[in-house]
Amino acid sequence: MRERAKAIHLELEQKVWIIEGHAEQRELCRIEARQRHKSLMAGRGNQRETSCRSHALVLEFLAMKLKMIPYRLRCYLQCWIKLPWVSRENALDFAFSSPIRPGQVRAEISALLDILRSANPKTAMEIGTWMGGTLFLFSRNVSEDATIISLDMPSGDYGGGYPAFLIPFYKSFRRKGQRIRLLRRDSHSSETLNGVKSFLAGRSLDFLFIDGDHTYDGVRKDFEMYSPLVRKGGIVAFHDIATHPSEIGSEVDRFWSEIKSLHRHQEIVSDPQQGWAGIGVLYI
Ligand SMILES: C[S@@+](CC[C@H](N)C(=O)[O-])C[C@H]1O[C@@H](n2cnc3c(N)ncnc32)[C@H](O)[C@@H]1O
Repeated sequence: MRERAKAIHLELEQKVWIIEGHAEQRELCRIEARQRHKSLMAGRGNQRETSCRSHALVLEFLAMKLKMIPYRLRCYLQCWIKLPWVSRENALDFAFSSPIRPGQVRAEISALLDILRSANPKTAMEIGTWMGGTLFLFSRNVSEDATIISLDMPSGDYGGGYPAFLIPFYKSFRRKGQRIRLLRRDSHSSETLNGVKSFLAGRSLDFLFIDGDHTYDGVRKDFEMYSPLVRKGGIVAFHDIATHPSEIGSEVDRFWSEIKSLHRHQEIVSDPQQGWAGIGVLYI
């Protein structure tokens, strides 16, 4: 029992750590941790008491979420208003201090953005929009007239997609001359691939960022489906190539270790012991 409680605690702490900086989500994780911990401990006592306690915790959780709505809306609104004034130079500071905070190690994504600035992609695609952080950073660091595709599911694992009301917000990341196409679909379906192809209208991709399904099969499928769209000389980058604790379920490192030797590549990992993140760059 104690071991199980410890494992839950570790899992939730990891969630908190990954989304550090998001006061609201940290609080939600803590409530969730308390809820799961208490209901686990209460499993020893009488069942009725346990169910009352877990109902109270569910209510506490919902109340917390409701209380946060005006706060979240205010944050998004402030972010939206400031967007037109965010230049390439201050894009990182802006992204890491707003609701679109990327799920990245700052130094690593900054190194990838340096690569993008010199490659100046005109067509870019990411799998894994999530809170829009990387989409925003890519929009500021690819060509001024770039076409950008960002793909995510309406909800799901590894972060959980985004709600439909954020679509206009994410689309407003485009700079004058850019086009942003958001697809809220499973990257692994053939309709999604066809949707991407029809949006590209015969053009190939200069840059592909894979940060969606982190299972071995999932990341492999993303690579196999979308890398043929990348032109010769183009870039495919993978997020989370660092070895993660096994309970996180991220297996990108396994696929990365197989694929990297087949291409010229670069590994951007701030600290080999960090246990998450890390960006692998393949030159196709
Ligand atoms: C780690 S988050 C992306 C983080 C984002 N790139 C950033 O750094 O801000 C991973 C996202 O991939 C999405 N995802 C997972 N599997 C997917 C799939 N099969 N198709 C599309 N999106 C997927 C999840 O819904 C989640 O929002």
